Amino acid sequence: MTTPTIELKPSANLVTDAERDRILAKPGFGRYFTDHMVTVKWTEGLGWHDAELVPYAPLSIDPANMTLHYAQTIFEGLKAYRQADGSVATFRPEENARRFQRSARRMAMPELPVETFLAAVDALVTQDSAWVPPTGEESLYLRPFMFATEVGVGVRPANEFLFMVIASPAGAYFSGGVKPVSVWLSEEYVRAAPGGTGEAKAGGNYASSLIAQAEATKHGCDQVVWLDAIERRWVEEMGTNNLFFVYGDRLMTPELSGSLLAGVTRDSVLRIAADLGYEVSEGRISVEEWRRGCQDGTITEVFACGTAAVITPVATIRSVGGGWTVGGGEPGEITMKLRKALLELQTGAAADAHGWMHRIV
Ligand code: COI
Repeated sequence: MTTPTIELKPSANLVTDAERDRILAKPGFGRYFTDHMVTVKWTEGLGWHDAELVPYAPLSIDPANMTLHYAQTIFEGLKAYRQADGSVATFRPEENARRFQRSARRMAMPELPVETFLAAVDALVTQDSAWVPPTGEESLYLRPFMFATEVGVGVRPANEFLFMVIASPAGAYFSGGVKPVSVWLSEEYVRAAPGGTGEAKAGGNYASSLIAQAEATKHGCDQVVWLDAIERRWVEEMGTNNLFFVYGDRLMTPELSGSLLAGVTRDSVLRIAADLGYEVSEGRISVEEWRRGCQDGTITEVFACGTAAVITPVATIRSVGGGWTVGGGEPGEITMKLRKALLELQTGAAADAHGWMHRIV
């Protein structure tokens, strides 16, 4: 596979310091984008070519662009954090690069070399480093993605693709402190089925999830919980996050059955929890076991994890058949301990024992 060098063509019209400071004071999530973006093309027979860092700008799309019709599109999400020493580093970016390759394989798209993925992210973070918020939980959220650019409505894998990276400053996900969420068990809609695309970070998975999220909102819940497609019994994920169940000092997360997304945060929590002396396992949990475990006190905490919100406590569960509460409904001690340990690692406040931080500038 070819690995093109990224040609730097920076903007002559940067956002002013005052405007950037105004945005960084209250960035929210995914609302503002930095001055630049990276683009790399792929053409059948030619491979990856024309890698550039250019000013952030709209794209011009042909109405017959194949992605608009058949959704051959995948993405990743990772964060660059300002470190305690003022430098900037991303967290386990190789894991995102490798998952991007797996997503591409599943969606019949070309695989981007890991080194090109990393070089593209590094180039953008280096160029737009002034957009990395100064401290703490705030970060620069990076969104690498790839989509078909071929024009035509024939149904087959496209022969041209565009890989891009854009970046968006992200505030602390919970502005007023960590808030436990309420969840709705989706018994009608499923996120993923065996043999489907659930393991891929493909745009279509998110499109098909929205109706269930809307249903959760209608029932007064913050998030939707996905069950397995066959028996509608085994717990899989929460919204765009993986789930963990805490039994005293033992943690369990649903196993990667083929329909779950292999979260980088999920993997990191498994390892950090083991470092902290907890017993960890991957397995299966049914809705009934979840309900019973909370009622008899064997399940003491439940939390969700993902790149965007890091770790989110789950407090209340609602479903057609009724609801229940986890523990006292407050964020659990182990949940908050793991959240702190992970954030300290990501922000350089704790030693990087696993060599997970990738320093950029
Ligand atoms: C995450 O929690 O990191 C996600 O995948 C959410 C993202 C799609 C905004």
